[in-house]
Amino acid sequence: MDSEQAANFQQGPVTDNQSQFSNAVEEEVIIRTVKLNKYFGDKHVLKDIDFEVHKREVVALIGPSGSGKSTLIRCLNALEKATSGEIYIHGERLNANLSVKQLSPMRRELGMVFQHFNLFPHMTVLQNVIEAPLLVRKMPKDQAVALGEKLLTKVGLSDKRDVYPSRLSGGQKQRVAIARALAMQPRALLFDEPTSALDPELVGEVLKVMKDLAYEGSTMVVVTHEMQFARDVSDRVIFMSDGSIVEQGDPEELFRRPKEKRTQAFLERVLSVLP
Ligand SMILES: Nc1ncnc2c1ncn2[C@@H]1O[C@H](COP(=O)(O)OP(=O)(O)OP(=O)(O)O)[C@@H](O)[C@H]1O
Ligand SMILES: [Mg+2]
Repeated sequence: MDSEQAANFQQGPVTDNQSQFSNAVEEEVIIRTVKLNKYFGDKHVLKDIDFEVHKREVVALIGPSGSGKSTLIRCLNALEKATSGEIYIHGERLNANLSVKQLSPMRRELGMVFQHFNLFPHMTVLQNVIEAPLLVRKMPKDQAVALGEKLLTKVGLSDKRDVYPSRLSGGQKQRVAIARALAMQPRALLFDEPTSALDPELVGEVLKVMKDLAYEGSTMVVVTHEMQFARDVSDRVIFMSDGSIVEQGDPEELFRRPKEKRTQAFLERVLSVLP
């Protein structure tokens, strides 16, 4: 099991009590960082990042390659250890120095979905989804199976429950990975370029599942190059460049009238390829 698989394994989802009829952003803070800094050797990769995500908020994190987007969300889940600064998950301070076992309850609060799915190849789709609830949450088998089936239906894959990941397309694998993240009922979902490893014709099915989650009121942080998704689905867009948050705000406003030169230059580059 690699560290990303281990992180998924410890996750905890989006609960049933998130009403389908209200996705208004709430005051409650789910994720907060204070002056977060990260160095790799002498390379300063995150610079004084102050970042907040509220309940039911969908935050899109955009920016050029190497700007620190993945590092930021990996720090939130203690996959990377920040050099300085503070991280709070639902008010509780994350101490990345703790052992993997000690970190497990906090990691469970955030569900991670990575570019490369990281499914367990030797387990069926259903087993992938229910493994963590069974082992980590000690959920009774019948309850876990019922939850797994419900989540597979949600991501449109109920007919694939007994097949192995090698038999799935990339889009299907990623939808299983989303179901697996949801199965631990995390407070928020973190996506790191969930569609960028997919063939273009498979991107839409994954974005649709993410869109549904957003409209149901899930709390989400999405690192993405899908500008249309960022513009249409997110409540707030954060533009990062060179380890800093350069600008953030309402998606419509930020895309139409970016204030900072670096944001303008980036958007000109990426939006020129939009339809
Ligand atoms: N494990 C590591 N060791 C050393 N340097 C790293 C490591 N991980 C990331 N970096 C460096 O940190 C910087 C930020 O990387 P990061 O992966 O967070 O960027 P990103 O914004 O996610 O980029 P991309 O859009 O390409 O995914 C880059 O310069 C990268 O080379
Ligand atoms: Mg990245």
